[in-house]
Amino acid sequence: MEIKPDEIASILRERIEGLETGSADLTEVGTVLSVADGIARIHGLDNCMALEMLELPHGVTGLALNLEADNVGAVLFGAWDEIVEGDTVKRTGKLLEIPVGEALLGRMVDPLGRPLDDRGDIATTETRPAEFKAPGVVQRQPVEEPVQTGLMSIDGMIPIGRGQRELIIGDRQTGKTAIAIDTIINNKDKDLICIYVAIGQRMSTVVQLKETLEENGAMENTIIVAAPADEAAPIKYIAPYAGCAMGEHFLYNGKAALCVYDDLTKHASAYRQMSLLLRRPPGREAYPGDVFYLHSRLLERAVKLNDDLGGGSLTALPIIETQASDVSAYIPTNVISITDGQIFLESDLFFSGVRPAINVGISVSRVGGNAQTKAMKKVAGKLRLDLSQYRDLEAFAQFGSELDAETQKALTRGERLVELLKQKEREPLSVGDQVASIYSGTGGYLDRIKVERVAEFLADLRTRLHSEESELLGRIEETGKLEEDDEKALGKAIADFVDDFGPDFDESGEPLEEGESDRVHSKEEREAPGRTAEAEGDSDSDSDNDSDSTEDEEAATPA
Ligand SMILES: Nc1ncnc2c1ncn2[C@@H]1O[C@H](COP(=O)(O)OP(=O)(O)OP(=O)(O)O)[C@@H](O)[C@H]1O
Ligand SMILES: [Mg+2]
Repeated sequence: MEIKPDEIASILRERIEGLETGSADLTEVGTVLSVADGIARIHGLDNCMALEMLELPHGVTGLALNLEADNVGAVLFGAWDEIVEGDTVKRTGKLLEIPVGEALLGRMVDPLGRPLDDRGDIATTETRPAEFKAPGVVQRQPVEEPVQTGLMSIDGMIPIGRGQRELIIGDRQTGKTAIAIDTIINNKDKDLICIYVAIGQRMSTVVQLKETLEENGAMENTIIVAAPADEAAPIKYIAPYAGCAMGEHFLYNGKAALCVYDDLTKHASAYRQMSLLLRRPPGREAYPGDVFYLHSRLLERAVKLNDDLGGGSLTALPIIETQASDVSAYIPTNVISITDGQIFLESDLFFSGVRPAINVGISVSRVGGNAQTKAMKKVAGKLRLDLSQYRDLEAFAQFGSELDAETQKALTRGERLVELLKQKEREPLSVGDQVASIYSGTGGYLDRIKVERVAEFLADLRTRLHSEESELLGRIEETGKLEEDDEKALGKAIADFVDDFGPDFDESGEPLEEGESDRVHSKEEREAPGRTAEAEGDSDSDSDNDSDSTEDEEAATPA
């Protein structure tokens, strides 16, 4: 029998025309044309949407990114290496969604919300879109509440507010992650939910970090989203959006959340890799043209919502790694221009022992000023100015005694302030402690102590204040204010402690001879038996003893 193609075609056409719409259950199914490096080209998905989730065999999820005339370019999540040419692909009709909810707290998950720790499944049914339009201006309100990092240099000079986007930028190994981790630890008992997104780091580093958070009791309030270095680029690309979606769950429920993206440099390069594989045209530094939009649409989602919408907030702390402190490279300039300020870390400072290695001169916080507590504003107001004055004069320090008194004074003050702002990692300070410490510097009390002894002085001062002025500290903590009377009392307590600790210089800055003050060299010596009696004897004569005078206001010498 002869087959006539024309006839067959017309029969088929008749049959198809005869089909009633809706009578058959149709899902749009396509076929994999090619697959490599976690990227698939799929034929036959004519109505596919951009960013639509696709279903592939072996539990692999696809995300349609390139909609082209005759095929769809999709990135694959999961065991993409099991996908072969000819596999069928189903449309889901949904955009990419991420599991969210309280159940994720305390957990370490991958960007698709699957557990990476050994605590079993995550019981949550809620999801949120990975990509979500950021709220507009009318839905927002000004940033006014602080996110306390517990680091004096940040809370004092570069305050961060809830809903702000503050960039942490610096070379490798300058303590960028440490700042974010300290912030999370400092907020463990506060109403701030933290999400740490690790992009392109070694898995062992992330696990270590989780252990650190657990040791410090900060994991219960935290979600870790990990897309480690050995993962395919699409997973790293989606990680910050996933973290953001998890944060938005809390944001839109009227709570406060903090997202750390560590780091967006690796995110950008994962996106570049993905885009090149999808054959998108490369632009500057081979990044695709929309790499700015990649980060801006992520960071725009940080917000302080207005009260009608629940007043929730999402703060973003993106991290960027620079090469040789070059902030004018493509990705750093992009993210600097998107954020509301940056904390700039420098290797030189880090290696000279100034840690956290923040360059105060070029670090800024554009909106956090209103969020700073009043007490901190009061005591730290002069801090930045004093420090920058010191930086200007630092070069002259070698001339020593030939300098005029004014310069000498600025140098003395500056040296001590630098020392004051040094802080070990994992030791965030409460607001009260910070205010007291900074006040001892800006109030000039530290000028009487040798630079080498400043750290010890401050540690002892804080211990003393906790035992003897806990009410005062509590008041600062609670109200965030430092009232006139409290300021006086704080000043006096510090002045008393200076005398007790043993100053190295008198009030005019002249060195005190040995024996002139009750200066004692070592901690052991100060705590040795008999020493207290001697100190009491001393102070009886000049009515300067701290514990006596704090209780006896009339006998007190003015601070
Ligand atoms: N304030 C600090 N005091 C003492 N050591 C610190 C401080 N901050 C960070 N470090 C140490 O410096 C090293 C680098 O810190 P961290 O990992 O935070 O830097 P990073 O900039 O995130 O590095 P990377 O570029 O590798 O991500 C760590 O060993 C950390 O323990
Ligand atoms: Mg790091």
